[in-house]
Amino acid sequence: MSNAYQAIHQELKRLQKEGLSALYVSDQVIEILGESLTRTKQTSGDVPVSIKTDTGNPTPGAALPVQTKAPPSSPAESFQATPAKFELPQGDPQEQLTWLEERVQNCPVCRENLNPNGKIVFGTGSVQADIFFCGEAPGAEEEKTGEPFVGKAGQLLTKIIQAMGLKRDDVYIANILKWRPQHDKPYGNRPPTLGEMQFCLPYVKAQIQIIQPKVIVALGNTAVSGLLGPDPSRRMGTIRGTWQSFEETPLMITFHPSYLLRNDTLQTKRLVWEDMLKVMKKIELPISEKQQGFFLPKK
Ligand code: URA
Repeated sequence: MSNAYQAIHQELKRLQKEGLSALYVSDQVIEILGESLTRTKQTSGDVPVSIKTDTGNPTPGAALPVQTKAPPSSPAESFQATPAKFELPQGDPQEQLTWLEERVQNCPVCRENLNPNGKIVFGTGSVQADIFFCGEAPGAEEEKTGEPFVGKAGQLLTKIIQAMGLKRDDVYIANILKWRPQHDKPYGNRPPTLGEMQFCLPYVKAQIQIIQPKVIVALGNTAVSGLLGPDPSRRMGTIRGTWQSFEETPLMITFHPSYLLRNDTLQTKRLVWEDMLKVMKKIELPISEKQQGFFLPKK
């Protein structure tokens, strides 16, 4: 394998380790990488990072889904709306949140970008929540039901919330993007573009302004980029588990539950759990000895 391919291979593995869930590369590059990585496995015995194309034919190896770059005419590349602009009306938090939801449900840009039969996914939970979980964008299950995090990753998020001694109704759950990004592949999800996230950011900011959570939890790299802005030098491996702030609200960065599903090890679970322990401590939730010890290796 040439040095260039080796470098790409290593970079993909590094990104996978850091929690990247999807990556856009052109069909041509996928072909070249596919051949190259197959050759690597044959010649070196090393297990390459898998390139799972959206044609449904993953190359051999582990699992880093790589989605093909959307064609130039796709909704991803032609998205050009300026960020949503509005002023919240006077009222109590519940009234404001109801107003905002109606605003988002009737947002022409959001509606235009929906898949056929897809629903806008505003957010769900308590207007008095101390914790605001922020994901990336609705997936297939979410656009069907109109509720965030109800698919496999969502079920895992629910378990995490329950392990913290809470219910979904005690927290608030939303996404950076309010619709499921369209793409032209038969399955999988396309991560939102920066333009799409910037369009929805005022909606997310307003949700946070109304709810005034004590803590925001950013789930995965895309949510972090959407909230804090893009930074090519940002590494999930470095910032995960650290406190940042979003407009003065403490922000904890952790892995996206779908990353946990793909990296189902005690060690990864413990990392996320340690982030949640920090969140619990910050908002002064009681932490039992049993909770302290979740996902520690058995002695
Ligand atoms: N992944 C997300 O980021 N959000 C959802 O609502 C579902 C899956």
